[in-house]
Amino acid sequence: TKSYRIASIPGDGIGPEVVSATIQVVEKLAKTLGTFDIDFTHIPWGTNYYKQHGKYVSEDALDHLRQFDAGLFGAVGDPDVPDHISLWGLLLAIRGPLQLYANVRPVRTFPGTKCPLNTAPEGIDWVLVRENSEGEYSGQGGRSHIGQQWEAATEVAMFTRVGIERIMRFAFETAQARPRKHLTVVTKSNSMRNGMVLWDEIAALVAKDFPDVTWDKMLVDAMTVRMVWKPQSLDTIVGANLHMDILSDLAAGLAGSIGVAPSSNLDPTRKNPSLFEPVHGSAFDITGKGVANPVATFWSAAEMLTWVGEKDASDKLMRAVENVCAAGVLTPDLGGSANTQEVVDAVCAEIERLYK
Ligand code: NAD
Ligand code: IPM
Ligand code: MN
Repeated sequence: TKSYRIASIPGDGIGPEVVSATIQVVEKLAKTLGTFDIDFTHIPWGTNYYKQHGKYVSEDALDHLRQFDAGLFGAVGDPDVPDHISLWGLLLAIRGPLQLYANVRPVRTFPGTKCPLNTAPEGIDWVLVRENSEGEYSGQGGRSHIGQQWEAATEVAMFTRVGIERIMRFAFETAQARPRKHLTVVTKSNSMRNGMVLWDEIAALVAKDFPDVTWDKMLVDAMTVRMVWKPQSLDTIVGANLHMDILSDLAAGLAGSIGVAPSSNLDPTRKNPSLFEPVHGSAFDITGKGVANPVATFWSAAEMLTWVGEKDASDKLMRAVENVCAAGVLTPDLGGSANTQEVVDAVCAEIERLYK
């Protein structure tokens, strides 16, 4: 049997709640199927670590992560620390430097969830591909004359030909692997006349290598309206880092809840381990109440299993999770009354029932 070493980074807020829930479920799956072994190593990075060490991660963080086959991340962010410090200290200190350039965010109306769109009674099924290393997240920019009347601040949206081309190819391949074979490229090349125009040019170039994929392009503002009014016209969507950050929360809301939305931070070259995490954050408002929806992290772990080569186990995990949701064992964000542990127990019982 194959064996996988996973770095578990629960982080802050509900992060530890949903990661611990997920480890229970994945360990149950591995034990029941007996077809693979999985070993989670706890890494304590986050705001408590920061309060002790003055840094969000250890000195050798990137090399440390390179020992693992993949990472499972919860969330970071704490009311005691400004968000830009915590996020650049942990999550953004991994995504960019490890070149996890493809952030894949599938959204699907799940059994038990309600799509709020009356334009899509059958629900939605999209894959959002987010460029994960450039744009406003390049870390370029700064502040001058701090506190003075003429203070200025910049956030430079930097794009490179290599960076755009690799994500565009990845997005066309993603679209090609889906039944509809359709890609929508999101930009803002009317007002943004440099980087976004380069995106449009590269989309047209890469499209030539994928004659079996149909594609269209949308300005991001109009895209929000299309997502609400013509959801069935969309399938795979690609766009720049900040645009897709926003559209992926919208997509999660349209699918029924941010509590079910997963994401994969992939290094498609497989030089570095990829990192899997729910789309949501640390959710201070519900931390400690035991009601966080663990499904987004379950689904992220399923994506992780697929990535390391355990597609069958991944499908089996998702079947168990879907059955439990369809049976109405749902957390409050989905209109249910179950708590996190009740969902975990129900999924474990379903794994036992289906696969023992
Ligand atoms: P959030 O995603 O944490 O919460 C938004 C809303 O969704 C809240 O009402 C929350 O209760 C609800 N929610 C989120 N996840 C849920 C779940 N699993 N089950 C049920 N309800 C859920 O976004 P926010 O409030 O904008 O950010 C809170 C903190 O998290 C901030 O510090 C922010 O910077 C950080 N953040 C971190 C990540 C990350 O680590 N990947 C992502 C987004 C935000
Ligand atoms: C996400 C989050 C992060 C992002 C933040 C917390 C830095 O919102 O993963 O969607 O903007 O990428
Ligand atoms: Mn986000």
